[in-house]
Amino acid sequence: MDKFLIRGGRPLTGSVRISGAKNSALPCLAAALLSSETVTLHNVPYVKDLITQRRLLEDLGATVLTPEIGTNIISAGNVDTFEAPYELVRTMRASVLALGPLLARFGKAKVSLPGGCAIGTRPIDLHLKAFEQLGANVSLESGDVVATAPKGRLTGAEIEFEKVTVTGTENVMMAASLATSVTTIRNAACEPEIEDLADLMSKMGAKISGAGTPVMTIEGVEALGSAEHSIIPDRIETGTFIVAAAITEGELEIRDCRPEHLVAVIEQLRAIGVDINEKDKTTLDVKKAAGGLKAKDVVTEPHPLFPTDMQAQYMTLMTQAEGTSNITETIFENRFMHVGELIRMGADISISGNTATVRGKTPLTGAKVIASDLRASASLVLAGLCAKGETFIDRVYHIDRGYETIVRKLKAVGADIERIKE
Ligand code: UD1
Repeated sequence: MDKFLIRGGRPLTGSVRISGAKNSALPCLAAALLSSETVTLHNVPYVKDLITQRRLLEDLGATVLTPEIGTNIISAGNVDTFEAPYELVRTMRASVLALGPLLARFGKAKVSLPGGCAIGTRPIDLHLKAFEQLGANVSLESGDVVATAPKGRLTGAEIEFEKVTVTGTENVMMAASLATSVTTIRNAACEPEIEDLADLMSKMGAKISGAGTPVMTIEGVEALGSAEHSIIPDRIETGTFIVAAAITEGELEIRDCRPEHLVAVIEQLRAIGVDINEKDKTTLDVKKAAGGLKAKDVVTEPHPLFPTDMQAQYMTLMTQAEGTSNITETIFENRFMHVGELIRMGADISISGNTATVRGKTPLTGAKVIASDLRASASLVLAGLCAKGETFIDRVYHIDRGYETIVRKLKAVGADIERIKE
């Protein structure tokens, strides 16, 4: 397993380009299964989860061409199997996104129950209940979800999610797009990735309104066609680099991003003393404000509030802020696995229920630490960048799942980081 070696204490300076959003590219690739015609996607990040998603499409019989970095041309005209194998699904939970499109287009789908990040139980009961409301028969057979649509086609329905679910909303959007009649989704997720998926699907001919709001309507159509679409920039990578600039007391230009997709993060970081200047619609200039960082509580919530995917990185930053902050995680249980590792590096953090209390500011020192999930890995990289001495991060395959060329990007702005291959 590869490791990172970081020699900390260097301010990051320079310019960094933000990649396409992993969490948008994943459903967009799945959406290509809805059509027998070609879907061309640009700005697809080259990260492990996307490689897995491409493998999944190919296993189903689709062709995926990558004529240049970031472009995927997907032809799902030849899809002839409807099963996502356990070997793929266990490494990536987003494989469940194949369920909606397969069920919609072919009336049948079989997908293993997912694995993915070790951040709690993460069920897919809400996806399955919604498929049933669309008329599917859903059963669990030896660890696989088997779903079929009677007479081959789903029927529009009124669906109200009891809890906001991002991939659940995406799965239902895709399932409903080829159903007879109209589907309404209430308490839909409002994440920018939902809007991006709706944009792509609309280009393919889907009739979707209300994407990005809690109530969406999808009018089923007979078939979807070809489309060309560019994936939105990754808002979590953007937030991570903002923290990187602040925690190393550096100065970064962050370009090709969409600040309007991370308003809550930017507001929170400004409030604690990070100087974030919106140079233009896609560029941010970031540095730590002169007065130093002040501790401030945060609670993770569905979009547009503070995202759970920035919680770990924010916690690392709070170790360098003056005062005490309470960080409350409301989306996932078991998402504090970075805490033990940060403590080993010198942080003063205690956990009570779903709240972590960080007492700052404490100097961090390099240590051997283990990455436990994607965003936890990012928080450890950030800790390593500001720590004194050498930090070894083990199991960096987690970070490879979602951050494109992270080592190269960080090196280019002055970080002393290297990948140690094993
Ligand atoms: C997506 C993101 C992930 C992000 C998360 C929350 C992708 C590929 N991943 O994950 O990076 O951290 O949104 O913003 O887009 N739940 C149920 N039953 C279900 C579905 C979800 O109880 O059927 C619960 C989950 O356990 C969790 C909450 O709902 O507590 C939100 O999960 P959800 O929004 O579905 O997360 P993902 O879509 O898996």
